[in-house]
Amino acid sequence: SELDLQSILKFTVALAYEAGHVIRKGSEAIQLAGSNVDEKKNSVDLVTEYDVKVEELVKKKTSETYPSFKFIGEESYAAGSRPEWTDEPTFCVDPIDGTTNFVHGFPWVCISIGLIYKRHSILGVIYNPFLDLLYTGVKGSGSYVTHGGLNGTPRKLPFASSPKPLASLSQAQIAVEWGNDRASKPLTSRSESFHLIAGDPSNGVVGGRMAHSLRSLGSSAMNFAMVAQGGLDMYWEIGCWPWDVSAGVLIAQEAGGLVTGSHKVYAETKETAAFGDVGEAILTGRKYIVVRAIGDAEKET
Ligand code: IPD
Repeated sequence: SELDLQSILKFTVALAYEAGHVIRKGSEAIQLAGSNVDEKKNSVDLVTEYDVKVEELVKKKTSETYPSFKFIGEESYAAGSRPEWTDEPTFCVDPIDGTTNFVHGFPWVCISIGLIYKRHSILGVIYNPFLDLLYTGVKGSGSYVTHGGLNGTPRKLPFASSPKPLASLSQAQIAVEWGNDRASKPLTSRSESFHLIAGDPSNGVVGGRMAHSLRSLGSSAMNFAMVAQGGLDMYWEIGCWPWDVSAGVLIAQEAGGLVTGSHKVYAETKETAAFGDVGEAILTGRKYIVVRAIGDAEKET
């Protein structure tokens, strides 16, 4: 494309490290003195002063360096700043993905910065400052994980060691999330899907596929990153926002993952029912599915 993606990547990585520093300091302050945790939509939809602070930092720096780019961020959006979706380059930012983890001191927390262009994710940077894991992806150039800051060596994703393809869903480790909409209907539909994915068909769970395990990391971006890496075979969630997924989609896709969902405007997606009948059950009400490799998905059909 006409954008210099390598130089945007360099800028975005430096910014993610800087933001990561603020997030870590914020966490220390919270552990010592507590934080002003506010509730958004309900008592499990949390935001702290640090979400706002980090987003302000990222918004300021991106607009200084790329004044023509648009910006959409979780907290600006909540505050009513909602730019129209156009073909223009747009930074899409979750300043703290995993806010609940952040509040609880559970170290699966990251900043997620995606760049959307012509309505598709073309660059993604995810940084977890507690585990010092940096995930990057650039359209057409693969995705990488780096540990050890600017001196670290990027390792290409997925790791060759991840045993693939899987013979069936029963061998899969799958990320699911409970989300923050705890109304009866979505909660029931999620739980039913959990039953189908994890349940034992020889012990009462009709249609159960007895997957190896279900995990909830509590951060959408980290779930995407772990699928890209191979630690998770799939991630399923109902109800993500664009800032939760814009970086992760690209990083997972560049690692060979398949992303399917319904936020087509925000992320390049493929409407493929990839999991046969169980897939259909899993797919009920879905927003995003990531599987590790397209070949695996086709095999499941
Ligand atoms: C949330 C986390 C969570 C996912 C939600 C997201 P936030 O983002 O990624 O894991 O289940 O869908 O909204 O609120 O921590 O930035």
